[in-house]
Amino acid sequence: MKRLLRALSGEAVWPPPVWLMRQAGRYLPEYRAVRAGVKDFVALCTTPELAAEVTLQPIRRYGFDAAILFSDILMLPWALGHGLEFKEGEGPVLPKLRDEAAVAALDPARVAEKVAPIMETVRLVRSGLVREGFAETTLIGFAGAPFTVACYMVEGGGSKDFAAVRGMAYSRPELFQQLMNVLTDATIEYLSAQVIAGAEALMLFDSWAGVLSPSLFRAHVIAPAARIVAALKERHPGVPLIGFPRLAGVMTLDYAATGVDAVGVDTGSDIAAVAAMLPAHVAVQGNLDPLAVVAGGKAMEAEAMGILNAMRGRPFIFNLGHGIVPQTPPEHVAALLELVRAG
Ligand code: CP3
Repeated sequence: MKRLLRALSGEAVWPPPVWLMRQAGRYLPEYRAVRAGVKDFVALCTTPELAAEVTLQPIRRYGFDAAILFSDILMLPWALGHGLEFKEGEGPVLPKLRDEAAVAALDPARVAEKVAPIMETVRLVRSGLVREGFAETTLIGFAGAPFTVACYMVEGGGSKDFAAVRGMAYSRPELFQQLMNVLTDATIEYLSAQVIAGAEALMLFDSWAGVLSPSLFRAHVIAPAARIVAALKERHPGVPLIGFPRLAGVMTLDYAATGVDAVGVDTGSDIAAVAAMLPAHVAVQGNLDPLAVVAGGKAMEAEAMGILNAMRGRPFIFNLGHGIVPQTPPEHVAALLELVRAG
């Protein structure tokens, strides 16, 4: 079995498998070259040859244990018919979803056709990995978790405090639950299609899980994740799932009961403390500060060694605590890989 899949099955693989969230992206000159040749980011995500190419770029450069499908969590609302635009230097911009009509306008029937190019990317990456000699590299498919996707749909993009989406969850509970149900059902189909196309493991990104109160966290982070995990385990037994409930703190313990095979830990959490509260068979993934990789040198080394020493002997996947940032020097990533591979 591939190293990453062994760790996800509960084995303490050492040195640990390693990949980095957002490992394909603007810090790589070869990514910027491809990106410069397309109209916009959505076009890149829906052109299979190019999306497969940028998925493979960081594997060629660093030999990571996992390739993550190049796409975006917002491609699912896009496929449901919600608008999506990536404005230069501004991030994603979406129509603000605020009423029943906007939820009713979401159309699950059009998703399969809209995401067909993304499934083609999955197939191209799987065959590309074999052709280029990366037989040990695991292909991870992913989706945004329903709550985080709802954050961007309700706010109309990013937000400092996500007040509109949290407000809707309290004051329009039926409307919000309707939206969560549509997103949860669509996410199950979307992830299942990725497995059929060749994804070997799946990750659920709940980047804003931590902005919710404990009761809303149970309703809108844990309950949908549990439903998604159960449905995928039934359809695709043996395909592991990584959940990333960012900023979840002590709620991570309840989150692990969703049945995920691994939990992603964010930068601000003590990874040893999180690992100690989880069942021993649940793998832990994380959690180097992306800014430590920007700094490089002794600072990065000290932070990375702290994580490695805390996780030795445990099912563990080395990763960052959030996505790599564009100003990261690529040679710092190479130095980090050497460190992790030395165990
Ligand atoms: O390498 C990989 O990790 C695979 C591809 C991937 C992207 N986004 C590509 C991307 C993945 C897994 C994501 C996940 C994603 N997207 C998340 C969850 C993880 C997290 O970072 O919290 C979220 C919240 C998004 C939404 C999103 N996409 C935002 C807020 C932005 C703008 C900010 C930014 O970083 O640019 C994006 C754009 C985006 N997604 C880019 C990339 C490479 C940059 C777009 C460009 O090249 O212009």
